[in-house]
Amino acid sequence: MDPIQNPYAPGAGTPPPELAGRDELREQVRIAIERVRAGRSTKSVLMVGLRGVGKTVLLDRIRDDAMAVGFQTMRVEAPEHRSLPAILAPELRQALLKLSQNEQARDLARRALRGLAGFVGALKVRYDDIEVGLDFDPEPGLADNGDLEHDLQALLEVVGQAAAKVNTAFVMFIDEMQYVAEDQLAALISALHRTAQRQLPVVLVGAGLPQLPGRMGSAKSYAERLFDFPEIGPLTHDDAAIAIVNPARAEGVEYDRAALERIIQATQGYPYFLQEWGKHCWGAADESPITVKDVETASVSAIAALDESFFRVRFDRLTPSEKKYLRSMAQLGSGPHRSGDVAHELQREVQSVAPIRSKLILKGMVWSPSHGDTAFTVPLFDEFMNRIMPGDDWRT
Ligand SMILES: Nc1ncnc2c1ncn2[C@@H]1O[C@H](COP(=O)(O)OP(=O)(O)OP(=O)(O)O)[C@@H](O)[C@H]1O
Ligand SMILES: [Mg+2]
Repeated sequence: MDPIQNPYAPGAGTPPPELAGRDELREQVRIAIERVRAGRSTKSVLMVGLRGVGKTVLLDRIRDDAMAVGFQTMRVEAPEHRSLPAILAPELRQALLKLSQNEQARDLARRALRGLAGFVGALKVRYDDIEVGLDFDPEPGLADNGDLEHDLQALLEVVGQAAAKVNTAFVMFIDEMQYVAEDQLAALISALHRTAQRQLPVVLVGAGLPQLPGRMGSAKSYAERLFDFPEIGPLTHDDAAIAIVNPARAEGVEYDRAALERIIQATQGYPYFLQEWGKHCWGAADESPITVKDVETASVSAIAALDESFFRVRFDRLTPSEKKYLRSMAQLGSGPHRSGDVAHELQREVQSVAPIRSKLILKGMVWSPSHGDTAFTVPLFDEFMNRIMPGDDWRT
């Protein structure tokens, strides 16, 4: 079939042709941010889920929804090895400049920009990766303590006051939140705590890997009272069917029932895999309807494509000992696995491999669903590890 018309969109953060199965969560977030605008108590929302389940595209969609009804927003992604103030400052500045164009909010938004200047000046020593243009001179005593926890509180307070002035809310979208260092997470949590106490319209909508709630709780014990952690998982059978069928139908193409079932089974409903299978089924079929035979052909090329991209980018970031650790996990099956069993598979003591496990958690490759358990953050990664390091050679 015509490759130009292929509607599927596998890729990191690439919007799908049909965002299936997430309406309830969108509505939940919509209510949360509308409540904050109305000055009512609400919890910030942190969506957690494995790699490729659709956190980023959902975050972006929710942001579009929010902007469409007049919320002030900013969006950042926390990369590994960068400080939170460094990633926040430029986006805060943009958002405040925009807010300052509004006549009624101008004075407070400008005050917030002066706060930002103080914030950046005072924190530059500690976080030398901050780079941002400043539009105003700092206001002495405003967010310029040099202590992130204090200064972020003060800054978000003025931001909240400016937003309140024009009857909107300031919504911060932060992706990949598991990479934010714990002391900086703590500062963010306590700043949100303060704005909540003051009933100021500031709210966070974030996304991250499943280790995020645990990290938040150890950063600040009261975090669970301030945040909801909805889980984003694979799509249900029916939603997975919608994700596959609707985009093709819009192009006049149908699937055989059995073909559809085969795709849902192979992908286990994981959004990234659904897009990849859809794309390759389209490529394999000569005509509508797409058949089981087409799916069989497509499965081979879809897996090869995933091995070259989705899985590969993760694998290439691993050291040899980390690869070995993950390969041992894969040897044991899809998991979760006891640390002792993984160590046993490696013929090592648990303590001696604990540092490797910790590094893998920091890199976001694995997480700990409960004490002493280890699970992959990438769906079907066990099968990939067995494909890329076949046989027994990896043990030597
Ligand atoms: N609800 C959905 N229905 C159909 N396809 C989806 C859905 N959500 C995401 N996708 C598709 O899945 C792929 C992965 O989405 P996305 O990058 O948002 O995942 P993610 O959870 O952010 O992954 P990562 O943890 O690797 O950043 C994209 O190709 C996207 O189009
Ligand atoms: Mg993402």
